[in-house]
Amino acid sequence: MKKQKYNIQVFAAGVLSLKETPGGYFKMKLAASGIAKAARPGQFISLQVNASGMPLMRRPMGIFSANKGAVEILFKAAGKGTEMLSRKKQGESVSVLGPLGNGFSVREELRHAILVAGGYGVSPIAFLYEELRKRKITTTVIIGAKNKKLIFKEGFSNPIITTEDGSEGFKGLVTERLNAACAGFACGSSAVFACGPVPMLKAAAEVSEKHGIECQVSMESLMACGVGVCLSCVCAVKEGMDTGYKRICADGPVFDSREIVWRT
Ligand SMILES: Cc1cc2nc3c(=O)[nH]c(=O)nc-3n(C[C@H](O)[C@H](O)[C@H](O)COP(=O)(O)OP(=O)(O)OC[C@H]3O[C@@H](n4cnc5c(N)ncnc54)[C@H](O)[C@@H]3O)c2cc1C
Ligand code: FES
Repeated sequence: MKKQKYNIQVFAAGVLSLKETPGGYFKMKLAASGIAKAARPGQFISLQVNASGMPLMRRPMGIFSANKGAVEILFKAAGKGTEMLSRKKQGESVSVLGPLGNGFSVREELRHAILVAGGYGVSPIAFLYEELRKRKITTTVIIGAKNKKLIFKEGFSNPIITTEDGSEGFKGLVTERLNAACAGFACGSSAVFACGPVPMLKAAAEVSEKHGIECQVSMESLMACGVGVCLSCVCAVKEGMDTGYKRICADGPVFDSREIVWRT
């Protein structure tokens, strides 16, 4: 992916609002004008959830929206850190580092984007969706989940929903719908952008590559530093005939799918 200019800031961001949303998520709005100005879809921020320093590591979160001096994140209370984050009150502050990583790159020739989201991957995809709409690029949005209780579709116009149990939309995996969507578009002027669990990214990559359509995937991993120093977040990539490694936090999280050596 194209390298973006670093403009990383670290500061105590005030919590402007926090609310529960459909899908079992929490949406938090933070006062962060510098990040809001610099952030690009696909980038993330890293939050110190507790001023006392426990848990020690910052928690990475994709950027859901960035405008009017504020940044929003959408998160699941998955463990101790995010559980603490979900109990923050309006007016409290959280130390934020960002924007981090490289975002999605949108080619000049792009006319149609197919956006694929699974789980909290819907968060960076929502930010990208807004950006594409501003640029008048048409979109097909495909959102997948295990069941309808886990679907977040706020803000998307007519998304295609797939659920594994068939409780909403199409029964099955997002890749079946992606295959149909890819068949309808010319490869040169289209691209797939995917964010979600790694098996979903791998499947999205295979489908897109079969149709000759560019696919950008937002990878994830446990992260310690978030800024490219500790090497705790590497993923395997193709380097000619060999395998090399790249840091998801600093070289990604967005990669061209053809670069990735899938290990799942
Ligand atoms: C670039 C990036 C962007 C992310 N964006 C979002 C987002 O927008 N919304 C959101 O809800 N989450 C996001 N995550 C995942 C989020 O960072 C983790 O869920 C969070 O760090 C867990 O912290 P915890 O203390 O609550 O859980 P822990 O107690 O540390 O772990 C709870 C469970 O979550 C798993 N987990 C921890 N970190 C990760 C991770 N990085 N990826 C996958 N599973 C993890 C653990 O293996 C464990 O099963 C993102 C992760 C990355 C790397
Ligand atoms: S988290 Fe330290 S290098 Fe990526």
